[in-house]
Amino acid sequence: MKIAILGSGNMGGAIAKGLSQGSIVKASDIICTAKSAATLQKIQEEVPGINTSQCNREAVKDADVIIVAVKPWFVAAVLDEIRESIDYSRQMIISVAAGVNFAQLKEYLQFDNPVLFRVIPNTAIAVRCSMTFVASCNATAEQESAVVALFEELGCAMLVDEAQIAAGTALASCGIAYAMRYIRAATEGGVELGFRPAVAQKIVSYTVQGAAQLLLQSGSNPETEIDKVTTPGGITIKGLNEMEHCGFSSAVIKGLKASK
Ligand SMILES: NC(=O)c1ccc[n+]([C@@H]2O[C@H](COP(=O)([O-])OP(=O)(O)OC[C@H]3O[C@@H](n4cnc5c(N)ncnc54)[C@H](OP(=O)(O)O)[C@@H]3O)[C@@H](O)[C@H]2O)c1
Repeated sequence: MKIAILGSGNMGGAIAKGLSQGSIVKASDIICTAKSAATLQKIQEEVPGINTSQCNREAVKDADVIIVAVKPWFVAAVLDEIRESIDYSRQMIISVAAGVNFAQLKEYLQFDNPVLFRVIPNTAIAVRCSMTFVASCNATAEQESAVVALFEELGCAMLVDEAQIAAGTALASCGIAYAMRYIRAATEGGVELGFRPAVAQKIVSYTVQGAAQLLLQSGSNPETEIDKVTTPGGITIKGLNEMEHCGFSSAVIKGLKASK
């Protein structure tokens, strides 16, 4: 499978790097574009064997999958640039641009039924641990499976309707910031309890990773796991109840609803 990635910044670069480390795509099957030669040089240093070009039209020619990873306000110009070079009968177009919907993508391409995907990863894609949402338009089940498999190489990928993308973005893309804020708060608490900041951060990071792994690997739910650590009258339930008196769960839910 040959991939063209248009825009090789944080997101495009992470996708290129992650895919080249997986088993579906070789670095030599990926071509990345950017505005500047400096960005392309950086990606070549990070991903040996990858192809680069400053010409989007040239880059999409041989691709099976075209990934558009420029800032949302550049999507129209980039699609306008490549639209006459696309073979709609065989090429799939994936946009990772937040907030650019299928109707807009079709309008920019000036084509009614292209095979389109909207893919929303989060920043953990840089370490191949993204929670990624995939929505499709005009795609076959086989094409959907191929795109999900591609992004499964970079973490967990989930097929959703376009209507669920905003909620998914709040929960996973904004959500990573909320998880970080918990980690920061717990780290500050850890310092007050007597650990050095770096040590406290390490302890909290492993604790959060362990909690997530317990749920993912056992299929358990948080309350079951909480019951295992809350001795009646013990210190854990005292801590939890104090957090709830301060509005912990309510604050998280309100924050998520505000970010949709
Ligand atoms: N970062 C995230 O967490 C995240 C999450 C989900 C979705 N997204 C989406 O990902 C997209 C990219 O975001 P980002 O954070 O990766 O931005 P970024 O770091 O600024 O990267 C954008 C890249 O696009 C290149 N570019 C600009 N104009 C171009 C053109 N005409 N042709 C080819 N390349 C061009 C830039 O080249 P130069 O480097 O040479 O300027 C740069 O490499 C956005 O649409 C964003 O909504 C990001």
